Amino acid sequence: MTQDLPGLSADETDRVARLLEEAATLPPAAYILDDIFERETERMFRKSWLPLARVDQVAKPGDFLAMDLLGRPVMIVHGQDGEIRVMSRTCLHRAAQVAEGNGNRKLFTCPYHAWSYDTAGQLLRAPLLEGAEDFSEPDCRLPQVRTEIWQGFILANFDPDAAPFAPQVTTFETYFEKFRLVDMAVVRTLAYASDWNWKVLVENFMEAYQHIGVHQETLEHSYHARLPRARQ
Ligand code: FES
Repeated sequence: MTQDLPGLSADETDRVARLLEEAATLPPAAYILDDIFERETERMFRKSWLPLARVDQVAKPGDFLAMDLLGRPVMIVHGQDGEIRVMSRTCLHRAAQVAEGNGNRKLFTCPYHAWSYDTAGQLLRAPLLEGAEDFSEPDCRLPQVRTEIWQGFILANFDPDAAPFAPQVTTFETYFEKFRLVDMAVVRTLAYASDWNWKVLVENFMEAYQHIGVHQETLEHSYHARLPRARQ
């Protein structure tokens, strides 16, 4: 028995895990309540490895890619030292954004008061503050987000204590090997508004039920919706 969540009873959540004959889908509240999404964000997404981009999208030292991740402005930067990092792009002074979009920079100079950061996020210069008491540029660095490169994917995790990603997927390595993921390059990107709850997309990919309907002339031929049960 699970505990009640705000807007969801324990009975409603327990039914999801029952056998097909007794199971029910999650109630609408699970897809629309802000409280539930906030709890999912804190408990899962801020503690999970999230794929952000491919290394070839920031191929050269100085290349950067800015984005918002779970409501926080971040950027991926290929440092002049060769390391790829994910870090905050919010200036440590008065919170202007030091980068937007993508491009190549040797320095990230804040457009507001011209503080300059290097490609590792280290503050190099704060104009007119030279010699200020209790202030030292070397003590100031854009907050870093835990970063890992796996098979050419750049992953980030807001949890500084998160276990490394790669050891968690070793059982899949043989399966992924034939795809040679590490050799793949981005040839096209698509951006579209995803104005729906994340669970709708996950549920679409976790089973083949929709092959009976929308994919009956394509995927249903090679991946039958009833196949897993027929094999039992
Ligand atoms: S807000 Fe960036 S330098 Fe002031």
